[in-house]
Amino acid sequence: MQALVLVGGEGTRLRPLTLTQPKPALTLVDRPFIRFMLDWLARHGVDDVIMACGFRAELLRERLGEGGGDRPRVRYLEEPEPLGTAGPIRFAADQLDDRFLALNGDILTDLDLTALIRQHEERGALGTLALYPVPDVAGYGVVRHREDGEITEFVEKPDLGDVDTNEINAGAYVLERSVIDRIPPDRAVSIEREIFPRLVGHGLYGLRLEGYWMDIGTPERYLQASWDILERRVDTDLGSQLDRGGPLIGDGARVDSEAMLRAPAFVASGAEIEAGTQVGPRAVIGRESVVAAEAAITGSVLLAGCRVGRGAQVTGAIVGAGAEIGAGAEIAPGTVIGEGARIAATARLEAGARIDPAGAIG
Ligand code: GDD
Ligand code: MG
Repeated sequence: MQALVLVGGEGTRLRPLTLTQPKPALTLVDRPFIRFMLDWLARHGVDDVIMACGFRAELLRERLGEGGGDRPRVRYLEEPEPLGTAGPIRFAADQLDDRFLALNGDILTDLDLTALIRQHEERGALGTLALYPVPDVAGYGVVRHREDGEITEFVEKPDLGDVDTNEINAGAYVLERSVIDRIPPDRAVSIEREIFPRLVGHGLYGLRLEGYWMDIGTPERYLQASWDILERRVDTDLGSQLDRGGPLIGDGARVDSEAMLRAPAFVASGAEIEAGTQVGPRAVIGRESVVAAEAAITGSVLLAGCRVGRGAQVTGAIVGAGAEIGAGAEIAPGTVIGEGARIAATARLEAGARIDPAGAIG
């Protein structure tokens, strides 16, 4: 089976992290986020993946490689300009099979794609969308359908007054090749706004799937996805290494015996945790990062190569790769620090602060 994965968005809501890394290449717990998607696709028989890239395709290729062996083969297609969520399908037309999967490239999920493909075949559908129930449909595509799955209405990001369903478009579709003819060429086209509404009544189906599903496109959801992997709410290869329920410590990580590690926590290889620190509950310490004595990291992710000074407190934050946090600094919840930024000793960052890559505070 073939899959086209849309990875050309700018990841605006994850800035400043996405100013220096494309969203799919951002590390989630211990690997480029998109690898979780590739593992999931492979589990459902996908052996050929086309990455529909815009922004920073070369960085993604560097981090992800070409696959092969027991992994799906991965190709990269670069758009001359952003083509939206349907344009890339048209752009990739001569490489696509008669039937293929199309996926948003920012979802962490273990939904049953095999069941989706099966229903698609049984109904002889033109397109079949994975649907997922969420408590709050704001910011998603909302779908109404009949009992047999035939979609009667698709509304992208509707005004909330109009919504009486909790089922959303989960961003995973099985499509027949003939759908490509309906996508206008050479311009940006939104599959949600222009294509799906027009396919209603012509063989567009949905299937509600149970399991785990999360769009990782905001800082809050990126953090939640990290805890969900560590707490095994989502089925992943990484999660299956976490059976023991304790913190996971990578090869060559140095954790002082006087450090307090509270699960769920992940300390990547080469990281160093000094005495008197508190790490977790809910913490990811990236490769080669150093947490100096007496510092506390809770509900936070440090990407690779960060340095946190003595006694600093990092709570509910994401700290970009190579950033430095001075001794005694306090980083409040919701903060996102860009790659390589420097926060001075004893600085206090307000909740929700955004610090530019290589920016300096204090
Ligand atoms: N190649 C390419 N080119 N990819 C793009 C482009 C583009 O111009 N624009 C967006 N994408 C990719 C993004 O990288 C992302 O993986 C995917 O398309 C969806 O874009 P988002 O910007 O993340 O959309 P959204 O999250 O607001 O809404 C979409 O996803 C929801 C589920 O998470 C819609 O499909 C909604 O209907 C859906 O409910
Ligand atoms: Mg999204």
